[in-house]
Amino acid sequence: MKKKIKELEDKIAEAKLGGGEERIKSQHKKGKLTARERIHFLLDEGSFEEIGMFVTHRSQEFGLEKQKFLGDGVVTGYGTISGRMVYVFAQDFTVFGGSLAEAHAEKICRIMDLAMQNGAPVIGLNDSGGARIQEGVVSLGGYADIFYRNTLASGVIPQISAIMGPCAGGAVYSPALTDFILMVENTSYMFVTGPNVVKTVTHEEVTSEELGGASTHSTKSGVTHFSCANGLECIAYIKKLLSYIPQNCEEEAPSIPYDKPESETRPKLNDIIPDNPNQPYDMREVIDGVIDEGTFFEVHKNFAENMVVGFARLAGKSIGVVANQPAFLAGVLDINSSVKAARFVRFCDAFNIPLLVFEDVPGFLPGTDQEWHGIITNGAKLLYAFSEATVPRITVITRKAYGGAYDVMNSKHIGADMNYAWPSAEIAVMGPKGAVEIIFKGEKDLKKKEEEYTEHFANPYRAAERGYVDEVIVPEQTREKLIKAFKMLETKVAKLPKKKHGNIPL
Ligand code: HXC
Repeated sequence: MKKKIKELEDKIAEAKLGGGEERIKSQHKKGKLTARERIHFLLDEGSFEEIGMFVTHRSQEFGLEKQKFLGDGVVTGYGTISGRMVYVFAQDFTVFGGSLAEAHAEKICRIMDLAMQNGAPVIGLNDSGGARIQEGVVSLGGYADIFYRNTLASGVIPQISAIMGPCAGGAVYSPALTDFILMVENTSYMFVTGPNVVKTVTHEEVTSEELGGASTHSTKSGVTHFSCANGLECIAYIKKLLSYIPQNCEEEAPSIPYDKPESETRPKLNDIIPDNPNQPYDMREVIDGVIDEGTFFEVHKNFAENMVVGFARLAGKSIGVVANQPAFLAGVLDINSSVKAARFVRFCDAFNIPLLVFEDVPGFLPGTDQEWHGIITNGAKLLYAFSEATVPRITVITRKAYGGAYDVMNSKHIGADMNYAWPSAEIAVMGPKGAVEIIFKGEKDLKKKEEEYTEHFANPYRAAERGYVDEVIVPEQTREKLIKAFKMLETKVAKLPKKKHGNIPL
């Protein structure tokens, strides 16, 4: 028996070395952690249980039969993060550059199947040269097996993708199908075709970093939700993200005990809105002023900054915050901000996270650029996402709520449960200047008409008369009003009409 145990121990040691000492050194030299180091930092100490450590490829092509590495370039298994079960796969760049082929894909699929059966999140730590070239079409099949599972798992269990190295070709589409993507600055990139192909086809000269690095995808394309300074920060972000979300669509997000009084006023909120309605202010001050101190975890921070979205806690409970940002493009709704918010709303609704909306929006952004790129279809995504959301939904109008944007930003007409307005709210078809220029076209003394319009319409009271606004509140009361209202809505039951699935304007 001793001999057999020794044989097993040797095999485990061999598997743990992946592609060998030299390649591990080379990985470290690039400023990257190995797959096993990443898992070590991600999971609770000693909680990792590996599955499929001795799996190898079955290929006989291109001399692969002479190159077998235990585990086939991906470490898979389960463990806990803060005591909660998660399933993990980490691609091992030291084995065939982490490239994906038949056995490698089967290991990932097994983890995904287990996660689905047992209702726990899947975390993918991606670091791969894409489809393993030597295995040909089998590699492509392996990817498609994963894409299919990503899609079936969508809305059932949270799926998180960390891009911690190269991610090219089909490899980008599995992350794209998951809920959140995190990228590591300077050591990771994502693109469908790399710089060489780009040069051949479009004659553009571009570096990998410019084409698909973390900064590109966190600011320009919005493909990634988080840009992290290094591997360890990326892992810390994953843990933080998980702390706000439930294990699966049947469960609630974990809450933390809250024993302070509910009736807590926050006087600082009274001083945020400037007297001049055209002066910007930072909506993050409002968010931070209302929620449990220091709990705002912003998602998509540097993309479409006219919209702020993220997770927070209110009286210990996890909520999703969606807010116009008057400090950027006056908080206008455009294509990117609509899509950003719509996707976040869909996630929160799928995973039972109540939604809190702060509204200060002058309307949709006009212009050919927006029209030609489909602001109609893209704006409709946000309208659709809110309308279909059945989680508790509350809106606070801090200032402007003009035009179609009033309807879109979680109005009661599209199913919001409660709508509060601050006395500074202006709820109307359009702003005073534009309105009088249309109604009184050609007439003189428009200044006076503008003043009359402002007094009559640029306030929350016309909407409150109709019940579109449930209550006009002093800003300092906002926190306690929201805590009470979300508590009141905890038992909300809302059902959508029976259907196969809706047809969101994609
Ligand atoms: C097999 C691969 C590989 C691949 C890398 N390697 N990519 N082996 N298939 N796709 C191996 C290398 O041979 C090398 O082996 C080791 O991984 C490390 O690679 P290096 O090139 O030395 O590393 P580096 O300089 O860091 O460059 C990494 C890289 C580069 C940028 C990822 O290797 C690269 O461009 N690879 C090819 C990427 C690609 O075109 N993939 C196919 C995409 S198409 P040794 O033995 O020397 O350690 C695709 C289609 C899927 O994915 C469609 C699904 C729908």
